[in-house]
Amino acid sequence: MMIRVLPSARRAAEAVARLLAECLAAEPHLVLALPTGRTPVDMYSALVRLHRRGRADFSRATTFNLDEFVGLAAETRASYRAFMRRHLLDHVNLAAGRAHVPRGDAQSPAREAARYERAIADSGGLDIAVLGIGANGHIGFNEPGPTLSARTHVVRLTLGSRRANRAAFGGRTANVPTHAISMGVGTILSADMVVLLATGRAKARIVQKALTGPITTRVPASLLQTHPRCLVVLDRAAAGGLRT
Ligand code: GLP
Repeated sequence: MMIRVLPSARRAAEAVARLLAECLAAEPHLVLALPTGRTPVDMYSALVRLHRRGRADFSRATTFNLDEFVGLAAETRASYRAFMRRHLLDHVNLAAGRAHVPRGDAQSPAREAARYERAIADSGGLDIAVLGIGANGHIGFNEPGPTLSARTHVVRLTLGSRRANRAAFGGRTANVPTHAISMGVGTILSADMVVLLATGRAKARIVQKALTGPITTRVPASLLQTHPRCLVVLDRAAAGGLRT
């Protein structure tokens, strides 16, 4: 596990964006797993800027988002598909058919999860998985618990995770869907490289637990310690609990 600490959240996001642009230049057919949330917003802005300067070409890339809320159509503003359109897809040259997000409004979410997993395999598997981390240590929407799922699956969201997402739902936790479709930890860890981006003081405690604590399903991000090529990019605030 390699840890890089940058002076600010913006610099940390830009470092990940630059790394992705370099990987795209070296391997244009890159298959990426991508996160949503507040943390990667600056990373997507930086990628869009790099694209406008001709330094990030997505024309042959494929992306798979980590998760989506069950019950939300792609057009719904609060959906992760809509988030991706706003922050990345509407601004770069990624082919619409190669930008994958689980279909939240699928008739059978379980079948959709299985289809999504097959689509990842059919693309040749993930080259790089870019992740954020939830305050409870979740990656994607793999919530802490006695067990974790390896493959894409339907997950029941914790109240804390629904609360953390309420801003997109008129500030009301009750409006946040109770379930999501999430890539499993096995699929995430099968990526050749994993990049975790975490910023802000609110993440310092969970970052310390995930990176230096025991490997446990109670802190899903702790499983990243087992990955042979895991890069963690932090700002100073998120690194506050680490001895550096
Ligand atoms: C979300 C997503 C995760 C994300 C995490 C942290 O709800 N499902 O993929 O990493 O929670 O979000 P934020 O960056 O807003 O703290």
